[in-house]
Amino acid sequence: MNDHKARVLEEVRRYHQDIQAEAEFVPGVTEIWPTGAVHDVEDRVALVEAAMELRVAAGQKARKFESVFARKLKRRKALLTTSGSSANLLAVSALTSHRLQEVRLRPGDEVITVAAAFPTTVNPILQNGLVPVFVDVELGTYNPTVDMVAQAIGPKTRAIMLAHTVGNPFEVAAMAELAAEHELFLIEDNCDAVGSKYDGEPTGTFGDMTTVSFYPAHHMTMGEGGCVLTSNLLFARIVESLRDWGRDCWCEPGESNTCLKRFSYQMGTLPAGYDHKYIYSHVGYNLKATELQAALGLSQLEKLDDFCAARRRNWRRLREGLDGVPYLLLPEATPRSDPSWYGFVITLDPEAPFTTAELVDFLENRKIGTRRLFGGNLIRHPAYADQPYRVVGELTNTDIITTQTFHVGVYPGLTDEMIDYVVASIKEFVEVRGMNVTGSASLAVSSV
Ligand SMILES: Cc1ncc(COP(=O)(O)O)c(C=O)c1O
Repeated sequence: MNDHKARVLEEVRRYHQDIQAEAEFVPGVTEIWPTGAVHDVEDRVALVEAAMELRVAAGQKARKFESVFARKLKRRKALLTTSGSSANLLAVSALTSHRLQEVRLRPGDEVITVAAAFPTTVNPILQNGLVPVFVDVELGTYNPTVDMVAQAIGPKTRAIMLAHTVGNPFEVAAMAELAAEHELFLIEDNCDAVGSKYDGEPTGTFGDMTTVSFYPAHHMTMGEGGCVLTSNLLFARIVESLRDWGRDCWCEPGESNTCLKRFSYQMGTLPAGYDHKYIYSHVGYNLKATELQAALGLSQLEKLDDFCAARRRNWRRLREGLDGVPYLLLPEATPRSDPSWYGFVITLDPEAPFTTAELVDFLENRKIGTRRLFGGNLIRHPAYADQPYRVVGELTNTDIITTQTFHVGVYPGLTDEMIDYVVASIKEFVEVRGMNVTGSASLAVSSV
């Protein structure tokens, strides 16, 4: 390594140490974030080193990340994107590609999903002129059952697009069987569930395509970033084309003629021999991530297993600590699953002698960060007022989630002391506010 560079990186290591002063946890004063990124010195060095290279556009590091990450998640291909939202957009858009011929999705076709969702799981359906069909979810697991989805299948249904909510897998093996039986595509939004397993296999390996987010709240981060993964090489090719301006050519920047036929194609009504580098086979986007993001991603990937283990540990500590507390419906892992949790979700019994807002307010005043279960019922938001959609059954639990549900953090930056303080605070609030009221959570887990 060049001397100057080695010295700069040594300084970066020192700088990292300087700013790492262990802050003592002071209950009620120290912020307990609901989500957050955990970076070590190697992350800082990796990012600075990549910046010093000044190769910002995606290149070798991005390709390396894709191949390592694909292996890690047991898929043949991973395609790095700007975000989890753009990964979802690309995955759904791929289903509309002419390359799928007669099975491509067309405007007006339906995609089954849930309204208790992050918006950009649902938005790509609308953005592609497709129609979301909303089903309810269970309380406790916060996922729909296979039966709920099966009941929503109609003559125009062509795909299922579901997230493994807050890391908790939906019944993905049976969902994949249902999809196969009805010739539906299945996209697993794995943005909150990297590291989760179902029947011992990673989530994201059951459907046609899966997506991941690398925003700081998620299991590993690049600051911003995302990924589409698939083992279907046609889907991978389509996603790559859509991600990279819609081009037909797959040469890396700076590369040419890797197909050895750059000037021998004839496509569309273009003249024969038109430069393949500039032939567009899709109405695409530019949703490529950068080399800097990939450098950080490669460094974070080294710690992914530890991050997931910490998330599981923190979740268990909260679960055990809060067990039996009245008025709270605690989360449950889906049977046959081993979730790598994103957060710890609590639903308050509507009969509780206090409101969700009061409990959340109490916690926030103690610097315990809370978040809603994303949008609650999305169709209650102004954004969806004029959008086409179909609802199957009553969204009863989705509405309960809108008023009664929130989550606290399990991310690896939290210590046992912090988790114990969260548990003690919730217990204290319930004890004081529930005084002289005998009650227990009357919401049944998995009630629909
Ligand atoms: C389930 C789910 N899907 C998609 C996304 C979008 O990811 P990003 O923020 O990287 O766009 C999120 C974001 O938190 C999410 O929770």
